[in-house]
Amino acid sequence: MKLTNNTILITGGTSGIGWQLGQALLKLGNEVILLGRNSAKLAKAKAEGFHTIQCDLNNQTEIEQAVLRIEQDFPRLNFLFNNAGVQYNYQFTQDIVSSHKIQQEVCTNLTGQLILTQLLIPLLHQADRSFIINTTSGLGAFPKADGLVYSATKAALRNFTQGLRYSLKNTPIKVLEFIPPVTETAMTQGRPEAKMSSDALVTHIIPQLKKERKILTVRKMRLFLWVAFLFPGLAHKILNKS
Ligand SMILES: NC(=O)c1ccc[n+]([C@@H]2O[C@H](COP(=O)([O-])OP(=O)(O)OC[C@H]3O[C@@H](n4cnc5c(N)ncnc54)[C@H](OP(=O)(O)O)[C@@H]3O)[C@@H](O)[C@H]2O)c1
Repeated sequence: MKLTNNTILITGGTSGIGWQLGQALLKLGNEVILLGRNSAKLAKAKAEGFHTIQCDLNNQTEIEQAVLRIEQDFPRLNFLFNNAGVQYNYQFTQDIVSSHKIQQEVCTNLTGQLILTQLLIPLLHQADRSFIINTTSGLGAFPKADGLVYSATKAALRNFTQGLRYSLKNTPIKVLEFIPPVTETAMTQGRPEAKMSSDALVTHIIPQLKKERKILTVRKMRLFLWVAFLFPGLAHKILNKS
């Protein structure tokens, strides 16, 4: 694919991995729209040359309004990065958490992005070539004990990505999956594991994106996907050693 002169929407683009991705794609000469909830972060993004859309992916009306705005102001949209996400860490079988918290995690990571994707497919169809790139996780290949709901949302998003790829096979829309390793962002703050910087991750991913690799990730993650598939017991040990 060519990585200039595209119109790109990144959900969860106001911080962490999405922000770095947005910066890199803006520098390459694309029109980049960042979607998030936080108005201070959106204002900062606007000042740096991004277009912004305020939208809570837990809110169907806000998603519909965001799509109307995109149809009106960005009719040449040809990239959708479904990247927004939240991760709540707790022991599902022991800790008592509100059903609202469970719903919020599912809706942000999955339902909201499914709705957004379905509503944007007609627009993406109009481009000569377009791309949907879903940010999943290694935890979508094997669950972590203190993040069962998060892992389940990412497993569902991985499954959806594959289904969407086949459903859109004979169309101009190509579907890719992005699997970050543990990366230094607000989401992983305070976690003890070694983390990749989001800057280094994006630098590593951009050439893979150019080549339209089906799975954009680092070598260690490709190995983990095999381990999770072939040796689930070992994957459990790797993820739950700390
Ligand atoms: N960091 C890692 O180690 C890692 C590893 C594997 C996968 N991932 C995945 O990578 C993606 C980016 O994660 P990150 O680490 O960069 O996280 P982050 O720094 O916490 O950023 C999360 C982004 O999602 C947005 N967001 C959260 N809830 C939202 C909602 N309800 N509606 C709209 N936007 C919402 C946030 O914007 P507002 O604050 O404005 O709401 C923010 O821009 C996520 O899908 C995550 O699951 C991360």
